[in-house]
Amino acid sequence: MKIFSIRIGWMAALTAAAGLSLAGCKKPPQVSPEPRFSAEQRESRFYYDLGAVEIDVGAYPKKRQDGYAVFARTCSQCHTLARPINAPFAERKDWERYIQRMRIRTKSRSGTGISKAEAAVVLDFLVYDSKIRKLDKKSEFAAKSEELRRLFEEVQKERERLRLAESEGKTQPPPPYTGDKPRP
Ligand code: HEC
Repeated sequence: MKIFSIRIGWMAALTAAAGLSLAGCKKPPQVSPEPRFSAEQRESRFYYDLGAVEIDVGAYPKKRQDGYAVFARTCSQCHTLARPINAPFAERKDWERYIQRMRIRTKSRSGTGISKAEAAVVLDFLVYDSKIRKLDKKSEFAAKSEELRRLFEEVQKERERLRLAESEGKTQPPPPYTGDKPRP
């Protein structure tokens, strides 16, 4: 009886050891380092989604500041304000077209809406703001756009890399942040 139980003990130990070494083998190599970009950045659809999400309207006339408030409320219902703020569009005819397109979009997304009055205020605001930030400071705006385009390329590469890693079943959740050192 005693011998029997000792035997079982040995077998259990052996099985456990085998299990451990197997688990050791299965541990994936560190092929996917932590994502470099936030989930929000990785979801960006246009390079302009990656830029600033607000405008400093402190120096704008009161009427334009009021317009900004309407714009901020109306145009952040489905995407962030970064999209219109950093988009290359600056002319009235472009904004007319895009605002009209956004109004159509609200029909297929419940809980959203852009009234005629809001559309008119937003149009005036965007035309004014585009002149100040995009047309009058053309080279500055072009440089910022170029920076965002390069960043977008990196984000796309990262997205592809994560997609591949995931399809190979290699993604691992990032390790918990345990220290007070900033992440590299
Ligand atoms: C009902 C949801 C919704 C609202 C509200 C909305 N958008 Fe959009 N917007 C979208 C979607 C979806 C896209 C991407 C598809 C497309 O371009 O139509 C988009 C794309 C854009 C683009 C990029 C278009 C391109 O092709 O480069 C701009 C600029 C834009 N929106 C500006 C605005 C502005 C300005 C407002 C406020 C008047 C606004 N959006 C409100 C849904 C919305």
